[in-house]
Amino acid sequence: MAGSGSNMKNIWIIANWKSNKTIAEALDWVSKVGPAIPKRDGLKVVICPTFSCISEVKKAVTVGNFPLMVGVQDLSPFGVGAYTGEEPAKLLEDYVNLAILGHSERRQNFGETDEMVAKKAEQALANSTIPLICVQNEETPVPEDCKLVAYEPVWAIGTGNPDTPQNAADVAKKLKQKYGGELQVLYGGSVTSQNVKSFVSQENIDGVLVGNASLDAEEFIKIVKGCEE
Ligand code: PGA
Repeated sequence: MAGSGSNMKNIWIIANWKSNKTIAEALDWVSKVGPAIPKRDGLKVVICPTFSCISEVKKAVTVGNFPLMVGVQDLSPFGVGAYTGEEPAKLLEDYVNLAILGHSERRQNFGETDEMVAKKAEQALANSTIPLICVQNEETPVPEDCKLVAYEPVWAIGTGNPDTPQNAADVAKKLKQKYGGELQVLYGGSVTSQNVKSFVSQENIDGVLVGNASLDAEEFIKIVKGCEE
């Protein structure tokens, strides 16, 4: 089993649904995946749906008593108030445990800067939400007090062309050297049930951030089982 051995590490498996799934589709996914996830300490499975699905997904997870956490793919850099169109961490905290911040799709399509990511991280931390900071490499800044990072090279996202586990582990190691051993580093970019084990079995990789392959319930269950083998 991944993570067994001398130091039992956490394994994070984070489903980033991006702009996909109706509420009905989201609930169907939860009803299939929820009962299939093993309950064990250290296995941290998080679903990040669109904002429109969050409350229904949270309700389904709670009612089913499934070992799943719920996350968001972004949140407001501001608090509650006159910020049209934004979703503040304060109003999300009842539903979510984690926020993906600084994803490369947001940096590319929405002009998100390192400064904005830092403000969003501050909001998440002030509202009991774990910030998951997406970085391109060890040079992308990780805001203060953020302990969870995803290394996601742009060329590997949605291309079917993942980084090598060795290179991903090398970047993870550099990030840990830079920010301290408490940092947990995930890999993201074309992760599937076929390759997940090769990433999570690396000493410095603490889990995966999964886009495309997380949309299909059967494939996602295989990814979780692949980590547990
Ligand atoms: P992918 O996306 O798994 O579809 O490559 C990963 C991500 O963008 O987080």
